[in-house]
Amino acid sequence: MKTKSLRGRDFITVLEFSKEELDTILRLAEQLKLEKAAGKRHPLLVEKTLFLLFYNRSLRTRNSFECGMTQLGGHANYLDSEKVYTPAVAGEEVAFVTERVADVARVLSSMGDGIAIRIFGDPVGWYYGRGNEYLREFARWATVPVINMEDDMYHPCQAMADMLTLREKWGDVAGRKIVVSWAYSPSMKKPVSVPHSMMAIASYFGMHIVFARPKGFELDPAIIEKVKANVAKHGGSFEETDSMEEAFRDADAVYPKCWPSLEYLPPRVPKPDFESMKKLFDANRHWICDERMMKLAKPDCLYMHCLPCDRGFEVTDAVIDGPNSVVFDQAENRMHAQKAIMALTMR
Ligand code: CP
Repeated sequence: MKTKSLRGRDFITVLEFSKEELDTILRLAEQLKLEKAAGKRHPLLVEKTLFLLFYNRSLRTRNSFECGMTQLGGHANYLDSEKVYTPAVAGEEVAFVTERVADVARVLSSMGDGIAIRIFGDPVGWYYGRGNEYLREFARWATVPVINMEDDMYHPCQAMADMLTLREKWGDVAGRKIVVSWAYSPSMKKPVSVPHSMMAIASYFGMHIVFARPKGFELDPAIIEKVKANVAKHGGSFEETDSMEEAFRDADAVYPKCWPSLEYLPPRVPKPDFESMKKLFDANRHWICDERMMKLAKPDCLYMHCLPCDRGFEVTDAVIDGPNSVVFDQAENRMHAQKAIMALTMR
């Protein structure tokens, strides 16, 4: 299959790309990383500007995009959504406080070469899917690529960095068992974007995906269906279980992290019900990735996390700081993966 040019494409979810296109991005990321280590420069985006619009906090995403743009010869311009006229969709506008997304997207498109956005949770009232709708609204009006820096459904740049990490460790990932598991945290306020995106990217490359979660932490059925369809097309398998122990057995990689219950978020309920959700969280405090759990997996099983993680809750220090942990490779690879995404879409 011939790969279409990626120039001008939005990068909102990996599920809108073909396996060949994703492979093209990953191969460029691998090349850029190797060549950078050898001292080669890559002035692929000279005089280009990427706007970074954050409605939420960030360490890795902001800095990996800023460093990546610097290394490609361009500039990343950081925009705090509360320190500009907050971009808002029609119906959510406040006079001289917000500015309509349609207008912001056209203004930024007239000056720069890409718009990257992070939005989930409090800024959209924890209404599942609203963050993604914001991204789509930007993409509708922008004439430059829109890159998803994490919304409430997807974190595609994290997924690309995670797959880059697995390829570095193993070469071919086909036939490997990866466990995407819920883990307890005292914070319920995290998006479901990372488990969705990890399973989505794994479904293109022949992996055996095991999705482990307590009852009540099921994910978006529409995305699970897409994962299953990909597995049927590209090989591998998909399995869902409510046993963390059963899932970890003989795993090649585990990715345990916390996410909220969609059962207690709109649109399934009229407004977020964190009080009821807390009871569900408290009943599942034992979902932690510790040394006992890691012993069930293969001896060289990789421990993955997108970070930031809640040490002592999602994972013990012994595991995250242990020899099987690849969390800092994942973090560094954000930059290499995003350089490839930017170079291919913004040029
Ligand atoms: N993994 C990730 O997106 O990290 P930040 O929230 O620090 O950007």
